[in-house]
Parts: sequence; structure tokens; C-alpha cells
Amino acid sequence: MTTKTGEEKQAAPISAGRGGDADSSSRGVRYDTYLQLDTLLSAQKPVTEPEHHDEMLFIIQHQVAELWFKLVLHEIEAAIECLKQDELARSIKTLSRVTVVQRQLTAQWDVLATLTPKAYAEFRDRLGTASGFQSPQYRVLEFKLGNKARDLVPMFRHHLEYYRQLKRALESPSLYDEFLRYLYRVGHRVPLERVERDWSERYEHHPGVVDVFQVIYEHPDEYWAAYEVCERLVDIEINFQAWRFHHMKTVERIIGFKAGTAGTAGVKFLKKALDVSFFPELTEVRTRIGP
Ligand code: HEM
Repeated sequence: MTTKTGEEKQAAPISAGRGGDADSSSRGVRYDTYLQLDTLLSAQKPVTEPEHHDEMLFIIQHQVAELWFKLVLHEIEAAIECLKQDELARSIKTLSRVTVVQRQLTAQWDVLATLTPKAYAEFRDRLGTASGFQSPQYRVLEFKLGNKARDLVPMFRHHLEYYRQLKRALESPSLYDEFLRYLYRVGHRVPLERVERDWSERYEHHPGVVDVFQVIYEHPDEYWAAYEVCERLVDIEINFQAWRFHHMKTVERIIGFKAGTAGTAGVKFLKKALDVSFFPELTEVRTRIGP
């Protein structure tokens, strides 16, 4: 048994581990309480009666996605703050983490793909009109990435905190808006109508912004940090589309062309979302590079 230094004693271990004493709670932190396992592991409440075996998969799949959404939002909010304070290097670190979490979210569809059409049909009716379409975190995330949609806010009136959060996200500059404002502050010729505008409007492509990115992409050594942010944003856009695509294909293999539980046209609706671009000028600038 090793002797602990004073510093180690202060930083109480999360896990008592093998041989950890049952009374580790007296040191302030215990694995199960720290992680609120009682709450977390009792939050799966199937609605089927008798319980359908596959409903547990369905619930956990959504809950895990919501937890990753929470982390992605946490990081995107941090990146927005960094950009506001001209701290580009820190924003790059944060955005890089987002891209890795997104890959987890996309890989997760493989688990749901093990749900067969017949098994899902056996309990789908019990879900009523519930749908990921009503995910507050997903909507806040879309707004923070610039895909604003004022008409979707009233859907959250039943829950004041979600409603306020979403409204705040609607009316605040997105990650991309803050990046353009940063570029303007450091002297790039970002059009004024992209530096101040009605933030609640969905971002619209502007040729003047393509000009700015052309300068950055043609002189990466001169604008290395800004160039890195651009590339991380492109990663985030592509990863987001990959998630959308895998969602759409998984839905297609489970329910075919049935309408969605939220009342949309289902797969047809999900396919349309594949055309959404958060950072359109970052795609367009590529057309201009080279001879
Ligand atoms: C059997 C599993 C699933 C099916 C059949 C399904 C189906 C659908 C459909 C048809 C829609 C369109 C809205 C509607 O009419 O309902 C939708 C939207 C959505 N779903 Fe799923 N889904 C499934 C699993 C998931 C999971 C695990 C998540 C993770 C959180 C999720 C997140 C979302 C989100 C965020 C939207 C809104 C997309 C947007 O507005 O662009 N779905 N889903």
C-alpha cells in the first residue's frame, strides 16, 4: 500500500476502486453518488405493458444521444465565448473535441440499426406523437450553429426553461456569426451586414464572406489560427451531415416510408435536411482555390 501525499488526499478519488473502503463517502466523493447513478439508472421508464424487450434499447439510444448533445452544446458555448474574447487557439481545442463527440454520435446509429421493423412496430404506437423532432437540446444546437427557425420555438412553451434557452439561442449570434465578427475585428473585410444583423434570422450566404475566406485559404501561413477554425467548422458541418444521413438511413430501414410520429413525411423530411448548410461560404470558397 502506498502512502498518499497531502495533495492526493485532498483530491478525493472518484472511485473507491478494488479494495476501496465502503466509507469513502466520508472523503466527500463516491463513484455512485458523484455520477448520480441512482438517478441516471432509474431514468429508463418503458411505457409498454408488459415491457417490450427492445424498448430499453430505444430509450437508452435516445438518452445517450442527449448526453452527447449536452457535451457538444457545452463545448460550442465555450467556443463562442473564446471567439468573443479573440482566443482562437482555445476555440480550436474546444471545436476539435466537438468533432470527436460527433463521431461517437454517428457511430451510435449502428446500435439502433439492430432494431427490426417488426419489433419497433410492436411498440411504436405507444410512443404517441413523441419524436426527436421535439428535442430541445438538438434545436438549441441547430440554432447555435446558425440554422435558426423562429417557428419551432413555440413548441417548447410547455417547459419554460427550454423555451427561454431556445429563445436566447435564437436571438444571439451563432458560432459562425461570432467567428465572422472576430474576423472583422482583426481587420478582414467582412461585410457589415454580417457583423450586425437580426440574429434570429437564419444565416444567408454572402459573396463578400467568400472573398474573406479566399484570402485566408490562399494565405494559410499568414492567418494560421483563423484557417484552423475554418477547417474545424468544415469538420463540424460534415460530421453533422453524416449524423443526419445515418439517422435518415436508420429510420428508413426501420420504418420505411411511414410518416413520422411528430407528423412529418418521415424519411422524405429527413432527406430535405441533408441540404442544410451551416457555413455555406466555407464550402463555396473551395471552388475558387487554385489556378
Ligand atoms: C426507431 C428510431 C427512430 C425513428 C423511427 C426516428 C424517426 C424520426 C422521424 C420520422 C423524424 C422526423 C420528425 C417526425 O415526424 O417524427 C425524426 C426526427 C428527429 N429525430 Fe429521430 N428517429 C429515431 C431515433 C432517433 C434517435 C435515437 C435520436 C437521437 C436523439 C433521434 C433524433 C431526432 C431528431 C433530433 C430529429 C429532428 C431532426 C430535424 O429536425 O432535422 N431520432 N426522427
